[in-house]
Amino acid sequence: MNAIEFVVKTSEIKVVRVPKPTLPKKPSPNQPNLLVKVVASAIDPSIDKKFHKLKLPDGFFVHSGASPLYMGWHFSGIGEETVGDDCDIPVGAAVFGFLEYSPMQQQGSFADYILVKSKECAIKPDSVSFELAAAASTEAITALQALRNVGRLTSGKSVLICGASGGVGSVAVRIAKLLGASKVTAMCSDREVERVRAEFQPDAILNRSQCLGDPIKSTGEKYDVIFDCPSAFASYKYSVVSNQMGRFSGLSCRLNSSLDSSFLYLRRSESG
Ligand SMILES: NC(=O)c1ccc[n+]([C@@H]2O[C@H](COP(=O)([O-])OP(=O)(O)OC[C@H]3O[C@@H](n4cnc5c(N)ncnc54)[C@H](OP(=O)(O)O)[C@@H]3O)[C@@H](O)[C@H]2O)c1
Repeated sequence: MNAIEFVVKTSEIKVVRVPKPTLPKKPSPNQPNLLVKVVASAIDPSIDKKFHKLKLPDGFFVHSGASPLYMGWHFSGIGEETVGDDCDIPVGAAVFGFLEYSPMQQQGSFADYILVKSKECAIKPDSVSFELAAAASTEAITALQALRNVGRLTSGKSVLICGASGGVGSVAVRIAKLLGASKVTAMCSDREVERVRAEFQPDAILNRSQCLGDPIKSTGEKYDVIFDCPSAFASYKYSVVSNQMGRFSGLSCRLNSSLDSSFLYLRRSESG
């Protein structure tokens, strides 16, 4: 099969032919049980762009420093082969998901085939294209979970979204509108203001440099929900000034998480 390979030392990127991966002969809970023929993959700005620059105490950010390594995390495709009774995805099903973010990860979704655990992917709805499913596999779902599940954003509530120019934040602006927020305020850096206004159409925009490290105090505005995508601000600052019973959610990362298929978790704190 073909795969996109990245040579860490030289930063060279090339298409190479590598063997098609094979499922283990015997099923095991910690081993992949589904072979996916990749139809679409998507670039994750917060990971694909930065992964080789970030070194954390227990190794490289998401790969074990393998060189060459196979790139790409997000995927959609067709389940081509399964092993074991635990696999709840039938052969031939259209699926989407993302490869496990782990320092031990050796695969990349910029390849013709990948092996995954069936519990780490979902059936793709027919109404969603392969391209959209791959692109939505983490940013959009993260934004949806943060706003709806953690932030409990519902119709008629106001929301502030920090990092609204980024992968998660930009989708969050649109999801907040779809959830019926009464006012969606986007915060971004000066250079992104016009793009965010034109592309994502929030109800209001805060210019990050004018917030002096505290977007709430500097404007005096209160919000029912605050979603701090880059985890740039301390929740205690918000809690002083957000609406009574307002909610704060931010994103942080940790390695070796026990959370299934994710090294990212949402932390939340009640305010008011
Ligand atoms: N991408 C995913 O699928 C995903 C999934 C789960 C969790 N996460 C986590 O969510 C966070 C955001 O991811 P992302 O993909 O949206 O990243 P991104 O595309 O790089 O966007 C992050 C945004 O945060 C803003 N920002 C950066 N530094 C800031 C600072 N010091 N203060 C305030 N704002 C700052 C930047 O916008 P401005 O410069 O315009 O302010 C930037 O556009 C990361 O921690 C990531 O690990 C990402």
